[in-house]
Amino acid sequence: MKIGIVYYSRTGNTKQTAKILEEKLKEKKAEVDLIEIEPVKRPGFFTAGKAGTKQLELPIKNTDFNMGKYDIIVVGSPTWNGRPSSFMKSFINKASNVQGKKFALFGTGMSPLHAREQFKEIMKNNLEKAGAKTSDNFLALQFRRGKPVDGEQNIDNFVNTVLKIKNE
Ligand SMILES: Cc1cc2nc3c(=O)[nH]c(=O)nc-3n(C[C@H](O)[C@H](O)[C@H](O)COP(=O)(O)O)c2cc1C
Repeated sequence: MKIGIVYYSRTGNTKQTAKILEEKLKEKKAEVDLIEIEPVKRPGFFTAGKAGTKQLELPIKNTDFNMGKYDIIVVGSPTWNGRPSSFMKSFINKASNVQGKKFALFGTGMSPLHAREQFKEIMKNNLEKAGAKTSDNFLALQFRRGKPVDGEQNIDNFVNTVLKIKNE
């Protein structure tokens, strides 16, 4: 069974989270690929905020996101103005073989965890529009100065849920 972790990270928090998930899933004997969404150009704060609010697709370097080889895909992004970063759209629009695939989602942000509801809904809707199935167990982490300050307590539960989806 194979798991793909696809993420975008502008300042490293989401990358840090993706790596923790990779490690924990590997500890549980899953085969894991870590796939970073690479922007053509790193957006500045203002561009990122505007693109987040309007959910504009921003150009990326990756050309091949074949989801066909994974049993489950974990997707993660920072929060930009209450929404997933624009690179989630770029990924979804470029990804192939998404139809019927099971996705689990995670997000990082600097605000408290309860503020992540809109983020989760947008990400779920965009994936489901592309034909994906999404798990309800969403992992939210709150970061301050590059360190998680809340949500870490939910990582193990999230990892277990991901492995259960795999075995359904
Ligand atoms: C343009 C922009 C808008 C942001 N808006 C929010 C927000 O609405 N809510 C929030 O919790 N964090 C917000 N943040 C903070 C990031 O989501 C947070 O620092 C995140 O963990 C960064 O992830 P990264 O290091 O992987 O890029 C924003 C950051 C940027 C750059």
